[in-house]
Amino acid sequence: MTEGGVNALAMICRARCKPGTTLVTTDPTWKWPCLFARQQGAEVIEIPIYDAACDYRLTAEALKAHVDERTAIIYLVDPNNPLGIRYSRVEIESFAAIACDCGALLLHDCTYRDFADGHTPALHVAPEGAVVSMSFSKWLGLAGLRIGALVAAPELFDELAQTSTSVLGASVVAQRAAQAGLAVKTEWMTTVRGIDRANKVMIREAAASIEGLALPIFPSHGNFLVLETVAAGIRPEALVECYRRQGIMIRQGTYHTQRFGDRFVKVSTSVPSSWVEKFCALLPEMVAQARRLNDLPPQF
Ligand SMILES: Cc1ncc(COP(=O)(O)O)c(C=O)c1O
Repeated sequence: MTEGGVNALAMICRARCKPGTTLVTTDPTWKWPCLFARQQGAEVIEIPIYDAACDYRLTAEALKAHVDERTAIIYLVDPNNPLGIRYSRVEIESFAAIACDCGALLLHDCTYRDFADGHTPALHVAPEGAVVSMSFSKWLGLAGLRIGALVAAPELFDELAQTSTSVLGASVVAQRAAQAGLAVKTEWMTTVRGIDRANKVMIREAAASIEGLALPIFPSHGNFLVLETVAAGIRPEALVECYRRQGIMIRQGTYHTQRFGDRFVKVSTSVPSSWVEKFCALLPEMVAQARRLNDLPPQF
């Protein structure tokens, strides 16, 4: 158990990254492990995947072209945050084989797995060369309690745990909450996923009525959607600010990726339906306002 999935990721980066090594990931990816790797002196290589030509996903060919003997970690976010694509068993097998060939650890970030239709943890195909990080923040909504997990073969776990800063363990209150959630997970997720799916459909319908808005990946296998704003002629930051003024938080693309961040906002969907109804009802007006808004406060 770790203090959030993020602490598992930090521990692994501390254990394996050092000057002269690389962490290879996608763009978009989750940015914090990249920061942890750089803090250790490693180089971060981001393979662009925001592209219909590669179906918004990492391919074995692209991965192979970016790894070598310096590669310490291949960091795979699956389902990808923010794109919402997920990888098949065959793809995971090919990534695991590439990791094995170059001697890298395959770090499979499965934070959003419970929202995916079908998911193969890398540990199932490569128990020796892969680790899985997990979170209770998303499917169970425990983000504030800071509870996650690292799953790995015992010998690997012993090595990685040497760099843990949480030597006294994760909060017992949070662990009890996680256990209570696990006890009702099937029933809970059936309800949550039903709401999440309906919310996604609502957003798709609202977006379809506005010229230029697009949902490049539907359905997303995460509890969020990428909503492209670029063809509608609005800046993601402007739309975020307009919604913020209405008490609704969505995220500008640059939070996730500098390279592609001007194309989209990310909208979370595992929220009460009434929130999404409000989001959709406001969408035409927010888009209109965003077109006129130039003066923006800093966003995080
Ligand atoms: C891809 C990904 N990994 C890991 C995390 C960390 O989750 P937590 O530390 O809250 O368990 C997040 C949170 O947003 C995430 O999006």
